Amino acid sequence: MDPIARYLEENRDRFLEDLKAVLRIPSVSAQPDRREDVRRCAEHVAGRLRLLGMTRVEVTPTAGHPVVYAEWLGAPGKPTVLLYGHYDVQPPEPLELWHTPPFEPTLRDGKLYARGAVDDKGQVYMHVAAIEAHMKVGGKLPVNLKMVIEGEEEIGSIHLEAYLREHRAMLDADVILVSDTGMLGVDQPALTYALRGLLFGQIEVIGPARDLHSGHFGGAVANPANAMCAIIAALKDGDGRITVPGFYDRVRAITPAEREAFRRIPFEEEAFLAEAGASMPAGERGFSTLERTTMRPTLDVNGMWSGYIGEGEKTVLPAFAGAKVSMRLVPDQDPVELAPRFEAYVKKLAPAGVTAKVVGLRGSPPYITDPNHPMLEAARRALARVWTKPVVMVREGGSIPVMTTFQETHNLPSILMGFGLDDDQVHAPNEKFSLSSFYGGMRSAACLYEELARV
Ligand code: BES
Ligand code: MN
Ligand code: MN
Repeated sequence: MDPIARYLEENRDRFLEDLKAVLRIPSVSAQPDRREDVRRCAEHVAGRLRLLGMTRVEVTPTAGHPVVYAEWLGAPGKPTVLLYGHYDVQPPEPLELWHTPPFEPTLRDGKLYARGAVDDKGQVYMHVAAIEAHMKVGGKLPVNLKMVIEGEEEIGSIHLEAYLREHRAMLDADVILVSDTGMLGVDQPALTYALRGLLFGQIEVIGPARDLHSGHFGGAVANPANAMCAIIAALKDGDGRITVPGFYDRVRAITPAEREAFRRIPFEEEAFLAEAGASMPAGERGFSTLERTTMRPTLDVNGMWSGYIGEGEKTVLPAFAGAKVSMRLVPDQDPVELAPRFEAYVKKLAPAGVTAKVVGLRGSPPYITDPNHPMLEAARRALARVWTKPVVMVREGGSIPVMTTFQETHNLPSILMGFGLDDDQVHAPNEKFSLSSFYGGMRSAACLYEELARV
């Protein structure tokens, strides 16, 4: 067995303890009262990177949460890899649905349960293990390495763009490497070459001056809750297409070749739907489930509130209705261009007698890269050394806001090599990381550094 793989195997339990330690820190970027925990987590990650022998480890404050930077530049003449990841996590709520507390990592059936287990602390710590293995076994890394581990990914990487622009030269590299995506099954490795973008915000419908008696006023005054339903219903047509004018103008058509390649992806639709608890697929007419989740844009309500939702009845006509809405975008849609169109359209859809507003609309562009880039070939070779099934090139439906910023600031090829699984309960209660992914991911990362040194 190769000495790096042996080192990883012999130190498995300690790597798991390392991961558990960082998972105990509730670094929820969205919640203001977790601010100190987020900062503590940044310091904890930085401390771990210092132990690896990374040089110049820094925790840089931003107007939001800190960025952790580390580098090791001891391989002159070899490529420089910029490794990106995030140490912040989604809110753990609703807490009552967790089988064990979200910040007390627990091992059950070969799976580690905790908020952030797979997204993204576990995947960052695969690299920590891979780096340590190279440093301890060979005294060096095969490539130069720069790491940016941020604390605001789950809230849209609000302050990272300024950081990247400010530190453009320091962060110069040959390739960007990210492990924050998924694979297609426990033993089916995948590389992601596209991610969807995002445009999200809140619709507010304002009606009467206060809640009204629904008998005394009902039927004669516009109801914001009903109006909200009318607006949302009108945002998609009977074919599941979004009706915002111009919404599809820049959507790239699916080429016959890509459609064919997609048909060959070993995607298990039945299992995917069963995992979701969905009785049947639903969505835009004329597209497969995998096309719908990755190559087509979509619009969803993420939350709604209005009127009385407590126990029993209350005959009231609410003064207000709110809804959080998100749109997933695909190449070459532009959130900056679509935002005012969405806003104008929602206002136009508002029935007479109420006022509709769109607030806090912001987003990130979709991301796509050439699936045949030599850097991705290196990743294929690395994965082929670890897994038996051949790697599949996929597009993912989720978003990593900073990917297109990197393209703008650094114009580099990128590798999205992730090990999440469909049943990882990402962003939901009982998030987990399978140890098969954790250990397989470590070995894959260790091999990838070697393969990148040969590009
Ligand atoms: N790791 C995910 C992105 C992801 C999810 C990639 C699923 C591939 C498959 C990331 O942490 C994430 O959740 N991003 C958010 C971004 C948003 C909060 C700005 C997303 O996609 O909702
Ligand atoms: Mn993530
Ligand atoms: Mn996430």
